[in-house]
Amino acid sequence: MADTATITSASFDTAAVRIQWSDGHHSTLHSMWLRDNCACADCGPHATGSRLQRLLDIPDDVAPATVVAEPDTLAVTWGDDGHQSVYTAHWLRTNAYSPTALRDSHKPVKTVWDGTLTQWPTVEWDKVLTDDTERRKLHVAVAEFGFVLLRGLGTDHDGIEKLADEIGYLRETHYGKFFDLITRAEPQILADLAGPILPHTDEAYRRVPTGINIFHCIKPSPCGGGVSQLVDAYNVARILRERDPEAYELLTRVPVQHQRRIEDQVITSDLPAILLDHEGEVVEVRLNERTMTAIRVDEDLMEETYAALRTAFRIAYEPAQRIEYTMAAGDALLFDNLRVLHARTGYNGDRHVRQCQVMRDEFFAKGVALSEKTGLFGSVQA
Ligand SMILES: [Fe+2]
Ligand SMILES: [Zn+2]
Repeated sequence: MADTATITSASFDTAAVRIQWSDGHHSTLHSMWLRDNCACADCGPHATGSRLQRLLDIPDDVAPATVVAEPDTLAVTWGDDGHQSVYTAHWLRTNAYSPTALRDSHKPVKTVWDGTLTQWPTVEWDKVLTDDTERRKLHVAVAEFGFVLLRGLGTDHDGIEKLADEIGYLRETHYGKFFDLITRAEPQILADLAGPILPHTDEAYRRVPTGINIFHCIKPSPCGGGVSQLVDAYNVARILRERDPEAYELLTRVPVQHQRRIEDQVITSDLPAILLDHEGEVVEVRLNERTMTAIRVDEDLMEETYAALRTAFRIAYEPAQRIEYTMAAGDALLFDNLRVLHARTGYNGDRHVRQCQVMRDEFFAKGVALSEKTGLFGSVQA
């Protein structure tokens, strides 16, 4: 849609330029917004950090003197100093902020799923290295579904590092750069044991928790256990809002304290379990009953907070919400730790899964650049 619409006509007054689009949409573009977004050589681009125009040098009452609309461009001469700005129709359309239908068309696709999801977004490692469409799919699938399965990474111990270097920046924590999930004689954390682990987000005790989690299966359990399970936390939030709107509302508001004590650090976060953006859409979920510590909310909210959390965990643990996959040697599972809860069944014997994390912003930023480079937008499954 953003690619094809052209400008049919434009009118203006001191407050704004009003554009009629060829597909029937219209946009009101305010004078301050337009003037601020002039990207001529004198003003300099916003996007590369080399902006020369100072926001406070624009007069409060900035207004167009003349406006010339062509199908593919809009030219504005400004009344105060005669400065000339030319905008492409494509740029205006991509950034138009009203009405809602146009704003929504800029949003990345999110597909919310439950246990009925049969088609897992999947990529092949050798194709990721040679084909930008496959590479885009890896990044955009995690933005859309919260996860992607990668096949063909092999079983070398440094395979996960090669993968991480291709897709983002490794994040180092007290676990180190890499963590080997194996059965340990002296377990430090629950993952060191072979027992089942319920759906959770990792490291909820951090304000900036694990970003993109990567599990690389080097050796699956010979008994067929250790099955990976994923739950869409957006779906958990959606169900909670349907079943118990007050509980949902409470969990978007009250702090839930998580804490992790390690040798020289006491890491604590105090964020709501469900974080919303400015439009009320769920953007981050933190659910992990193992890292929760003493909750501190107002006295008159404690009972409701516990009830709401228990309802949320009940939904998250429902078998109907989860998908399951038994990773084979050479498989890697990548997921957004703030979108998807992960779990695994218990296992026996000698299993080896290597874990690391890459930072979230850079991982998603590569997906956006690859969408632009390939000209592919929309669902990776389309
Ligand atoms: Fe975990
Ligand atoms: Zn300019």
